[in-house]
Amino acid sequence: MNFFIPVFEGADTASVLSSSAYFENFSGKAGEQVFYIDADGNRHYVLGLGNKKDGTSVIRAVRSFFYKQKARLKGKVTVKLTGEEMTGYVSEISQGIYLGQYEIGVLKNRNDRKPDWYDEAPGFAFGIPVAEAAILKGRYFAEAQMRIMKWGDAPGNYKTPQILAQWITEAGKQSGYGVEVYDAKACETLGMHALLGVGRGSRENPPLFCILKYSHPEARKTIGLVGKGVTFDTGGVSLKPGDNMNYMKSDMGGAAAVAGTIEMAAKLKLPVNLIGAIPITENCIDSYAIKPGDVIGSYSGKTIEVINTDAEGRLILADALSYITDHFKTDVLIDLATLTGNAIMALGYKAAALISPNDSLAGDLFSSGLSTGEKVWRMPHWDDYKDALKSDIADLKNLAGSPIGGAINAAKFLEEFTREHPAWAHLDIAGTAFADSDFGSMKSATGYGIRLLVDYLQKVQ
Ligand code: BES
Ligand code: ZN
Ligand code: ZN
Repeated sequence: MNFFIPVFEGADTASVLSSSAYFENFSGKAGEQVFYIDADGNRHYVLGLGNKKDGTSVIRAVRSFFYKQKARLKGKVTVKLTGEEMTGYVSEISQGIYLGQYEIGVLKNRNDRKPDWYDEAPGFAFGIPVAEAAILKGRYFAEAQMRIMKWGDAPGNYKTPQILAQWITEAGKQSGYGVEVYDAKACETLGMHALLGVGRGSRENPPLFCILKYSHPEARKTIGLVGKGVTFDTGGVSLKPGDNMNYMKSDMGGAAAVAGTIEMAAKLKLPVNLIGAIPITENCIDSYAIKPGDVIGSYSGKTIEVINTDAEGRLILADALSYITDHFKTDVLIDLATLTGNAIMALGYKAAALISPNDSLAGDLFSSGLSTGEKVWRMPHWDDYKDALKSDIADLKNLAGSPIGGAINAAKFLEEFTREHPAWAHLDIAGTAFADSDFGSMKSATGYGIRLLVDYLQKVQ
């Protein structure tokens, strides 16, 4: 069975709608625009969803359509839904319409538009009575996603650690959550030696640590969210090869997902308490940079032998994880990070790697992944993988000897800094945070994680 979202522009759509033949001959693929009619100056579009009728497919199809047709769809748009079932997707359709206004070419000199990351959405209405709240929810999601997509797509020189911390602070002010920023000096006082170690290669743009807070008077649970905020990852002295290194501007996808989720919780007034911890740094090279073989300290007190400076994400997350467990009592602790190329080798770009010792938390995240389309797939968490972290000269090392099982080894490293939190989950979003899209010919930020985590928060609240 195929599903459609007809999108009509213009006043006189009644005659088209009444023609059932309009829908019967559809044989398009998911997200394809099956036909286009320009009758009496009114444009009528039918958007085919094929047999993929889930939230993500609806958002993707609508977003792609509105992005491609942006110039034509300037006036008032009426969205007519085929069948009862489609009325359950009002929020996703609204989200898709807003997301379609995203603009990636903001740094081009262009006279036809003001330099902004997104345009104003066209006025739109649904042909039937729908809940305003559903439309608004879609808009909130789109705004939070566009905000973090903009962060991910911004070049490294446009988002130094200081700038990213400032963006997070502004987002907090606008959306109703609190942000505390600890600069490098404060991090020194706190003893965040692993974060500072990674930041040593960037004296111009030193590291920072942000704590984000959202609370609700009726909250029964407190969830900790930790996100990797590497604003550019050169690999450090263990320099990455040049090919595609430019994509490493997106190495703060975890930080973005954490901020975006807290923004959504604040806007939807979800009855949970949230604590976000975001370590922010560049991973660059200068004469002060840490070198392979160096041993550094960490907030937890454990010493770490840095075998490879390109495995920097786990170092900065180590400090954030132990800081959050020391300062806040959290019922659940989830970290998100563009942590390993190995997660992409294993799962490609369609699912994030999930590693957790907690079966029920893993199950909840898995089902939220299925229902939002922001999928996760669980990998083993067993201690058999722990041996790979043994160092001869320090408490542990940041890289196993061989390049196998890398996503799991990285997670086992992080686990050492969670103070044995009983409900901890790690999401390696290296493949899902930055991917192909309609917005450009190269990969771009996806906004991955917000819908997944909001769905999860709605379940556990
Ligand atoms: N930021 C990278 C991981 C990554 C790779 C994210 C590709 C997105 C796309 C991470 O810091 C890294 O460099 N990981 C290394 C670890 C290696 C040195 C063990 C990797 O995965 O190659
Ligand atoms: Zn790296
Ligand atoms: Zn990295």
